[in-house]
Amino acid sequence: MYTQALDTAEAQSKPADTAAAARFQARIDAEQRIEPQDFMPEAYRRTLIRQISQHAHSEIVGMLPEGNWITRAPSLRRKAALLAKVQDEGGHGLYLYAAAETLGVARETLVDQLLAGAAKYSSIFNYPTLTWADIGAIGWLVDGAAIMNQIPLCRCSYGPYARAMIRICKEESFHQRQGFEIMLTLCRGTAAQKAMAQDALDRWWWPVLMMFGPPDAQSRHSQHSARWKIKRFSNDELRQKFLDATVPQAQFLGLTLPDPALAFDPETGHWRAGPIDWAEFEAVLAGNGPCNRERLEARRRAHDEGGWVREAARAHAEKRRAAKARAA
Ligand SMILES: [Fe+2]
Ligand SMILES: [Fe+2]
Repeated sequence: MYTQALDTAEAQSKPADTAAAARFQARIDAEQRIEPQDFMPEAYRRTLIRQISQHAHSEIVGMLPEGNWITRAPSLRRKAALLAKVQDEGGHGLYLYAAAETLGVARETLVDQLLAGAAKYSSIFNYPTLTWADIGAIGWLVDGAAIMNQIPLCRCSYGPYARAMIRICKEESFHQRQGFEIMLTLCRGTAAQKAMAQDALDRWWWPVLMMFGPPDAQSRHSQHSARWKIKRFSNDELRQKFLDATVPQAQFLGLTLPDPALAFDPETGHWRAGPIDWAEFEAVLAGNGPCNRERLEARRRAHDEGGWVREAARAHAEKRRAAKARAA
């Protein structure tokens, strides 16, 4: 459904038609889905292109830290599961680029922005995967955080994005469980295996809390996104949900969260985390994380090496078009 030719929303939203804008907001308020051919304000379209493309880039770059462990997974079963998971992430990227294309932007443009270093992707994928336990920690925590973020997106006001998220969320929850199961196996193993799981948790915990984005007071885009029902929970609300779900899981594993200030607040029934080092988050976003350069280099190399495939596909499509034209 995403590949059909679409009028660009830009042309539709050009007349500064306040009546149309009011009707648009009324449809959103009534929980109606906005579809590609519908009127939408230019700012709504731009916000969605930014968010969906960042999301797509994150799925694609997110294949790299885990792909790194496919050949080194400790058993055939683990290899097969990890291979399938990394392949799922590639699929998520494709659904999302396709959803972005319904807003009138070409996928090539979005990919070029990523390769040029001009587009953002999730800060978490700029951290290295040093041991096998990192694959468990990523599934448990990174996919776990992604689910918190993405389940509300299944009710996003933009139809193609919401529908893509339904399938993605189903797969993410499988990823989360396989990651937790890796952690559980390590924690029930030898002392060295449990220490490896603890070390992975120590390194991933804070970057995962940062995945939900800056605190609400500093978040630039939240207000509009909430009014347009693109985003239904704030960064801090989602971070809190994640914390409340994850602390008991860490306790079940017998692992210690690397946060001496972490405490349960009996009055609110919520876990409270200590202060997050936002300077680290800013540095990683600015391109200075441990693996930013490596990740972009890997994507550029993959893009260059895949050039012949795109060329062959174009030539094949051209031949088919010509054959069809001859037959007609
Ligand atoms: Fe994914
Ligand atoms: Fe995932």
